[in-house]
Amino acid sequence: MGSVSLKIGDGTARFKRATFCSSAVNIIMIFCVITTNLFALYAFTASPKHHNNHLLLHTQKNFSLISEQVSLILREIDSSQKKLVQMEKELLGYENVDLSRPNIASELKLYLQHHQLPLGKDSRTGITEMVASIGHSCEKSADLLSQYMNYKIAGPCPDDWSSAQKLILRGCEPLPRRRCFAKSVSKVGLYPFPISLWKPVGNKTVNWSGLGCKNFECLNGKKLGRDCIGCFDLVNGYENQRYIKARGKNDFVIDDVLALASGGIRIGLDIGGGSGSFAARMAERNVTVITNTLNIDAPFSEFIAARGLFPLFLSLDHRFPFYDNVFDLVHVSSTMDVGGKPEKLEFLMFDIDRILRAGGLFWLDNFYCANDEKKAALTRLIERFGYKKLKWVVGEKVDSVGSGKSEVLSAVLQKPVRV
Ligand SMILES: *[C@@H]1O[C@H](CO)[C@@H](O)[C@H](O)[C@H]1NC(C)=O
Ligand SMILES: *[C@@H]1O[C@H](CO)[C@@H](O)[C@H](O)[C@H]1NC(C)=O
Ligand SMILES: *[C@@H]1O[C@H](CO)[C@@H](O)[C@H](O)[C@H]1NC(C)=O
Ligand SMILES: *[C@@H]1O[C@H](CO)[C@@H](O)[C@H](O)[C@H]1NC(C)=O
Repeated sequence: MGSVSLKIGDGTARFKRATFCSSAVNIIMIFCVITTNLFALYAFTASPKHHNNHLLLHTQKNFSLISEQVSLILREIDSSQKKLVQMEKELLGYENVDLSRPNIASELKLYLQHHQLPLGKDSRTGITEMVASIGHSCEKSADLLSQYMNYKIAGPCPDDWSSAQKLILRGCEPLPRRRCFAKSVSKVGLYPFPISLWKPVGNKTVNWSGLGCKNFECLNGKKLGRDCIGCFDLVNGYENQRYIKARGKNDFVIDDVLALASGGIRIGLDIGGGSGSFAARMAERNVTVITNTLNIDAPFSEFIAARGLFPLFLSLDHRFPFYDNVFDLVHVSSTMDVGGKPEKLEFLMFDIDRILRAGGLFWLDNFYCANDEKKAALTRLIERFGYKKLKWVVGEKVDSVGSGKSEVLSAVLQKPVRV
């Protein structure tokens, strides 16, 4: 790390920049040095009668020397502070998109440009400029982002939905808007609602480019994670039995859960909702459910939309784009297993709590607990929220993905009124 040394008179003051703390010490020391020198200067200039011109010249020379040194120090402090901010950013992994770097797409620059409001400050919102936002982690994938923003304006967008999803999964969320036309799909053979809820979706409603499978028959034979085992098959298998027929004590039936609710369940959010069957069963009960999903290995969003349901293309790391206390119900399955530090799950839980109304239901559906420790941590976390346990079942679930049995928790919890 750098250091600043300062020669004033015979003394040499040395400033080392090593830690965040020492910069405060530096500033105090510099202050001391400056004050001491000013006192010395005062002592010399206080009784000019006893000094000749030669001395005065000397003092002036020394004074300009000091001010030169001081400005040098100030410059050094300034640059140190900038370096500290940079270090802090690196520690946090936080970085603004550096638009000055070479190869940055001009469309990205244009998109991120601030626009002053033509009439100055808006009196209602208090803002003076429009600022387009993208995820702060976009910087970490700047090359991919630049590639994503490289297209012909008003031309067809490149076939790159999977790069877009890759960016989102790396925390580049929200993505910038683009000025190109997304490839449209003719969507022939859509059924009217509510027939659409359980009709097989035609292969042609999806652009399969970038996916391993090229039709739904192929997907039916795939295990696409814990919450989607044959979940695209609405005719055979278990998918059309889910939520109306229990396979074990951990499976709750929708009508039982709805009967627990006070004040009616009208709108809900399903987190990690697979192919949308939860929302479909709820739609049959006149409850509107939004299904949160990405297109990992399969066209979940298109499939859900083709069923006449609402797909929300958003990663779990994103704050839910809903206002406080709006949902009557939040349904969560294993997908909430965000892994890593317990704080990660806490941020998610608090956000779920935020959007759920008092008296609303939080349905934890076959939540997978890797071990006893994890189960205890989850239980502690849930209990901290003070929800009323309307249902609470810990059991073993025969896991068709991977090997053998795993412990799962299913619960229906009611959000209390907090003051
Ligand atoms: C000016 O500084 C020199 C050494 O750099 C010192 O010898 C001299 O006494 C100083 N003069 C005054 C007036 O401070
Ligand atoms: C899928 O989209 C890409 C471009 O986004 C296009 O080149 C391709 O023809 C489309 N495929 C189908 C089957 O429409
Ligand atoms: C989708 O394509 C597969 C394979 O070509 C075909 O067997 C199946 O009938 C198609 N499904 C629908 C719903 O069109
Ligand atoms: C849903 O709403 C429709 C229209 O209001 C009504 O006819 C139907 O009985 C409702 N279904 C349920 C399960 O409440």
